[in-house]
Amino acid sequence: MTAPVSTRRRDGIAEAGPLLQVSDLVVRFSTHDGTVHAVNGISFQVEAGETVGLVGESGCGKSVTNLAIMRLLPKPAGRIAGGRVEFDGLDLVQLAEADMRDLRGKEIAMIFQDPMTSLNPVLTIEEQMTETIRAHRKITRQESRDRSIELLGMVGIPNPESRLSSFPHQFSGGMRQRVMIAMALALEPKLMIADEPTTALDVTIQAQVLELLRDLTERAGTSVILITHDLGVVAGMTQRINVMYAGFIVETATTPELFAAPSHPYTVGLLHSIPRLNAERHEPLIPIEGAPPDQRRAPTGCPFAPRCAWRLPVCWTDNPALAPVAPGSRIVTSGPGATHLIACHNPPTAEEAAVGRPQRPGFVAAPPPGIVVDELAASLEATPATADEVVIMAGDEGPVSAAGAAGLPLPPEEGER
Ligand SMILES: Nc1ncnc2c1ncn2[C@@H]1O[C@H](COP(=O)(O)OP(=O)(O)OP(=O)(O)O)[C@@H](O)[C@H]1O
Ligand code: SF4
Ligand SMILES: [Mg+2]
Repeated sequence: MTAPVSTRRRDGIAEAGPLLQVSDLVVRFSTHDGTVHAVNGISFQVEAGETVGLVGESGCGKSVTNLAIMRLLPKPAGRIAGGRVEFDGLDLVQLAEADMRDLRGKEIAMIFQDPMTSLNPVLTIEEQMTETIRAHRKITRQESRDRSIELLGMVGIPNPESRLSSFPHQFSGGMRQRVMIAMALALEPKLMIADEPTTALDVTIQAQVLELLRDLTERAGTSVILITHDLGVVAGMTQRINVMYAGFIVETATTPELFAAPSHPYTVGLLHSIPRLNAERHEPLIPIEGAPPDQRRAPTGCPFAPRCAWRLPVCWTDNPALAPVAPGSRIVTSGPGATHLIACHNPPTAEEAAVGRPQRPGFVAAPPPGIVVDELAASLEATPATADEVVIMAGDEGPVSAAGAAGLPLPPEEGER
């Protein structure tokens, strides 16, 4: 292999440092309508054996991030426009295509939402599994068949030997996803990327498949990036969570810390919009008002500003960088002691996070500067507005999350999902 970036794998001994290091990753798509700013300079790490969640609404850049890691961005529209991806001592952005092909499946495996897009409908499960194994391992057909039977048994497929001759359509959705997990684990990858692996399944099957995934990857020591729009799914599965919005990571924390002290208005909104399965009475779910920004426009200001009840005038012009929630803390980027980071000029207090809206007397979200100036100019017969007048303008409370005061929805208990 070429393009080593560290000594991690040079001497074949496990080294300190993360298995995966993504630094300032930028992804763009060139389209007829202009450039899509899909991923805007994100950085994160995954340690060996760690499971990290990547969470956010549809279109925030979760899949694109991972397609970029795997160098599978749709060509020619998609490209890595900046940043580095280092995996186990290799620079994946620079790696030769042949080496990258060898790495996929063998060292980094992916599971998608719909197994039918990954499974070949005209080949039997045996053909697909043995082909995958033998593409990377020098073993006989019989040995790869035995390994396939073992793997299908491991993921809970009944009568695995006889099911080998089945075609994908002869399995239920949940069973197909189990087959995908078996195939992904066949080569004992170091990293598994699971992109919405259970979204298409009903809730009971979803819980079983997630538990299986957690159990098998824990036992094998496989690192996992779990992609989902559902905070409930990552709650019981991950050690750390990165919350994405409009191509940025806006909050990152260990899983217990993120649920105990959500600190970015977007995360607070997400938490108020998921069901609280262990609640004594049902709290109303509060969807986040508005829609994510059009990513064909270059981002200016905080991308969440149009939907944020906490916004200040500065939010319309300056996009805040990720910084420790507790100012001045030493930054640890992975593992159980990872620092809680947010990108926000005006984070909610704990009390505000619990109720889902600002509680400071007289506080109103800063309206967009241009509109405010226009409105004030009209009402004051063309007298220009000052910044102070903009902030205190009455009657514009911005979008608010009208959650009840009963506290944040809690993540589902293990076993309740
Ligand atoms: N082939 C493409 N051409 C142009 N833009 C694209 C392409 N694929 C993705 N994008 C854009 O990149 C952005 C990120 O998309 P991505 O698929 O990563 O979202 P996601 O977070 O995975 O959403 P979902 O939860 O719906 O899967 C979106 O604005 C999307 O429209
Ligand atoms: S307070 Fe400002 S910086 Fe923070 S999320 Fe709201 S708009 Fe963005
Ligand atoms: Mg996606």
